[in-house]
Amino acid sequence: MCGIIGYIGHRQAAEVLLHGLSQVEYRGYDSAGMAVSNGKDLRILKDQGKLRDIHAKHNFLQLEGGIGLGHTRWATHGPPCERNAHPHYDCSKRVAVVHNGIIENHRALKAELEKKGHKFSSDTDTEIAAHLIEEELKQKKPVDSAVRSALSRLEGTYALGILIAGENRLFLARRHAPLIVGRGKSDEMFFASDIPALLGYTRDFILLNEGDMAQIDSKGVKIWGADGKEASRPPLHVDWTPQMAQKMGHDFFMLKEILEQPITLASALSADVSEGVKLLSGAKRPAIVACGTSYYAALVMQYLLHKQKREAGAYLGSEYASWHTGQEDVVVAISQSGETADTLSAIRLAKKEGAAVLAITNVVGSTLSREADATLYIGVGPEVGVVATKTFTGQLAIIYKLAYSLSGDKKGMDALLQSPAMVQKMLDSIRPAVRELAKLMSKRRNFFFISRGIGWPCALEAALKLKEITYLHAEAYAAGELKHGPISMLEDKVPVIAIAPSGALAAKMESNIRECKARGASLVVLSDDETIRKEGEHALVMPKVSEDLVPLFYILPLQLLAYYMTIELGRDPDQPRNLAKSVTVE
Ligand code: M6R
Repeated sequence: MCGIIGYIGHRQAAEVLLHGLSQVEYRGYDSAGMAVSNGKDLRILKDQGKLRDIHAKHNFLQLEGGIGLGHTRWATHGPPCERNAHPHYDCSKRVAVVHNGIIENHRALKAELEKKGHKFSSDTDTEIAAHLIEEELKQKKPVDSAVRSALSRLEGTYALGILIAGENRLFLARRHAPLIVGRGKSDEMFFASDIPALLGYTRDFILLNEGDMAQIDSKGVKIWGADGKEASRPPLHVDWTPQMAQKMGHDFFMLKEILEQPITLASALSADVSEGVKLLSGAKRPAIVACGTSYYAALVMQYLLHKQKREAGAYLGSEYASWHTGQEDVVVAISQSGETADTLSAIRLAKKEGAAVLAITNVVGSTLSREADATLYIGVGPEVGVVATKTFTGQLAIIYKLAYSLSGDKKGMDALLQSPAMVQKMLDSIRPAVRELAKLMSKRRNFFFISRGIGWPCALEAALKLKEITYLHAEAYAAGELKHGPISMLEDKVPVIAIAPSGALAAKMESNIRECKARGASLVVLSDDETIRKEGEHALVMPKVSEDLVPLFYILPLQLLAYYMTIELGRDPDQPRNLAKSVTVE
């Protein structure tokens, strides 16, 4: 969702903001802008479109001064256009505001402000904040009290950055939306919605609590807690390097992130999962909550726990409130970003009902990790492509390690620890065949993915990957479900991609493949078994792996297939339309 960066220091703010915003482009956005002050005057440049195009048109670097705010907008209130892009001014053009989140009482506040004579120039909820501050400043209060009073009127979620003309400081505040403060080396301070925005400048951060407001000047930070009292917050040092967020010679981050999975998998497998084992071993009614790709990882976890005869329900974060029993004692929340609003709502409800929360996330200091009782970090480094690839396999790695540690399955653990080397070998050997297949498949418009058992979440994830970046229609089914309805759509060489490993479910899978062929479908079969592969019009040779590890291995060629098809179609796999890297609204 919206990306935010703020800077105050000895450099030209516009340079820092431009670089920082380019590092958070992966969050997904439709417009961008910045406000810069030289300590006295304040100017804003903003527009709809991609950052580089806006820069080419307006030249952000013409904004002179060492204090500034930058923003990439993912539209919620009002269409993407210049007037709705952030920052937003008040009437006097002395207050500039950037925002991520939704101000829920914006209608009532707007009506109140309009009665007082305020004129609004956008359709956004954000602009309210600038006018509220303007109104408070008219009361001649100290500036920080004026900002605090204005913010106390806001309901909903926000990460806010505020720049006021004539002030040698910036204000920021957060409630249920991520915002971190960065400490520069000498006489400079930052804030941002994401750590990667600031990695080029600092790896030392301060995490704000929910409801905190802060001010930064070039020397440091002053924080007020939700109770209005001054507060201190712990520092955080991260070991991510700026290089980890570079393309490293690849055309797109997505390809780099797919191909680095042997390394990221090994890194995830080195995690200490003992905290998770401690929580789950005593759990009577565990639940797993997650959204999107992370939900498919949750389904894999549910499968593994059921195999151990542990009752565990996997829930979509957005549906947890409707489907939970209220008896859950441990809730495992899986989220690469740790900021997904639906997942956070689910854990807040679970906590209220007395459950302990175990987080599995990639982002140190994320809201999820801070609200959970224990966190297992997948440690795969920043994932810049909007769609999840290496974070999915990182989540699976932690889930397998946790499951095998719980059950003491030594054989399973040994096979798991060998997986990074096997994944490397497989990626090397399978890539050319996937590329060729992508050329053929990119001419088709509808796709079905089928599998059984633990392969089914993998089919769901493969279909999600394909539709997210190619914008083609793709559906995934448990293979046995086809005959209950969707089989009526199979005609005219519709591709059906079958995840069909050898093993206990192979015979039934083979029958399902034949059912599809008999209706004219074009089968793409992924299997380690030659006999099953022969059923396909096209086939990909897979290594033989244990049943549990099927999702971990079989998703890799399907990530590559989605990627290469997107390239064939001339689309951007890193920043697909309408998608955001972390979804901070419900
Ligand atoms: O950060 P999270 O793992 O909580 O994100 C959940 C989903 O929004 C995410 O997996 C989404 O489905 C991605 N676009 C998948 O590629």
